[in-house]
Amino acid sequence: MAAPVDISRYSGLRAQAETLDGEDSLRHLRDEFHIPTKADVKRKTLAAGDRSNDAHVDETTPCTYLCGNSLGVQPKRTAARIQQYFATWATQGVQGHFKPLEDSPLPPWLDADDRAAKMMAPIVGAEETEVAVMQTLTVNLHLLMSAFYRPDPNGRHKIILESKAFPSDHYAVLSQIKHHGLSPETSMVTIESPFAEDPIISTYDIQALISKHAADTALILLPGIQYYTGQLLDIPTITAYARNHGIFIIWDLAHAVGNVPLSLHNWDVDAAAWCTYKYLNGGPGCIGGAFVHSRNSLITTTTTDNGSEQAYGNRLSGWWGNDKVTRFQMEPKFRPAKGAAGFQVSNPSVLDITSLCASLEVFELAGGMLPLRERSKRLTAFLEQCLSSMSEDAKKLFRTITPPDPEQRGAQLSLYLEDGLLDATMDGLAEHGVIIDERKPNVIRVAPAPLYNNFGDCVSFVEAFESALIAAQKAK
Ligand SMILES: Cc1ncc(COP(=O)(O)O)c(C=O)c1O
Repeated sequence: MAAPVDISRYSGLRAQAETLDGEDSLRHLRDEFHIPTKADVKRKTLAAGDRSNDAHVDETTPCTYLCGNSLGVQPKRTAARIQQYFATWATQGVQGHFKPLEDSPLPPWLDADDRAAKMMAPIVGAEETEVAVMQTLTVNLHLLMSAFYRPDPNGRHKIILESKAFPSDHYAVLSQIKHHGLSPETSMVTIESPFAEDPIISTYDIQALISKHAADTALILLPGIQYYTGQLLDIPTITAYARNHGIFIIWDLAHAVGNVPLSLHNWDVDAAAWCTYKYLNGGPGCIGGAFVHSRNSLITTTTTDNGSEQAYGNRLSGWWGNDKVTRFQMEPKFRPAKGAAGFQVSNPSVLDITSLCASLEVFELAGGMLPLRERSKRLTAFLEQCLSSMSEDAKKLFRTITPPDPEQRGAQLSLYLEDGLLDATMDGLAEHGVIIDERKPNVIRVAPAPLYNNFGDCVSFVEAFESALIAAQKAK
């Protein structure tokens, strides 16, 4: 049971939020999305109108959804685009692969991946040919490592990653090392924060570890934004440092893409991978993305008396990575497509790509990542202000572990609760129709997504949070 909150504490913030929302030139973007209602999130059935669960719940008030760091909400246009995809399939069958339809906004399926890469490139700051929309995040990390992790047991063989990396990244690295017949004990190096109570890792600490292992490190895998703390790493500085030491660096951009502007090409990033179901709103488990800098996918052609011979970096290959011009000639010789497209393996799910591109249309409407980032900084700063306006009794029960510097974070704030408060606080938040996520045993992550959250959401969250937190403390 949530504790009553001193309403007056929040009325000033509510008024401020209304003004900020009123002045917000991107506020119309929220209307592009289905924000679940408070009734929706309590309902135990698919169908709207079932009030059996809670007769008092308002059917139309949106819930406070601050969980785009986990799963973005659904753009309204997604259903329309998927319907167009279904109609193409229903009326054209296999012809949908290559036959353009005059009244369709969707390309023939054979070109769906190219269109997705073109729409994705500005979001990650890449040339179009440096991006492939393919597979899923962990698989893409494996594909990149299979191409670029070439350990020499007597030379460079180590992989550096964070000790608290997202588990899938950790497993991927472990298995890559073992796959090459090496031992994680000697070939895996982890970066730790020097302070147990502060999980933030400084650029300096990362550089120091790189220097220490520079001679025998083959690869670094780091997150653009750390999933647990919300820390935005200094991607250009760390990339330059790694490259100066001759180390290939791959970035996991799951929490950065669609959240902060990226300039992967100009930052000289070697390679990167990301998912599209968080800030990119592609839908659960949607197709992933990969970046390969143009210098890393060069194909050289040498002509001899016996004809021309192409050389390219080896990779785990499949027919979709083959050059489009010869892909359907069904020849046994692999001729990679130019750029990141040459790292594709299977033909992609057009259903997924259709869903993703519907959301990328909204990013185009927004004018790209720069205006969104400005908006996002204001939203997260306001969330911080709301948190600092909480009662002293409530503030004693948690601390923010995300860096206070807006340049070192994206949308998300991670709040570390006192021991034993997490479950009851999450229950109290759910009671108020607040959707956020938890990382056991102590952390909740709260992310006002740049595209669809508003200032009012921040107040609603903090009001519910104070009540839930105090109640959790009393129940302890
Ligand atoms: C930082 C990070 N890396 C990797 C993954 C795994 O992604 P996938 O299941 O799409 O491979 C996630 C999933 O949330 C993630 O947050």
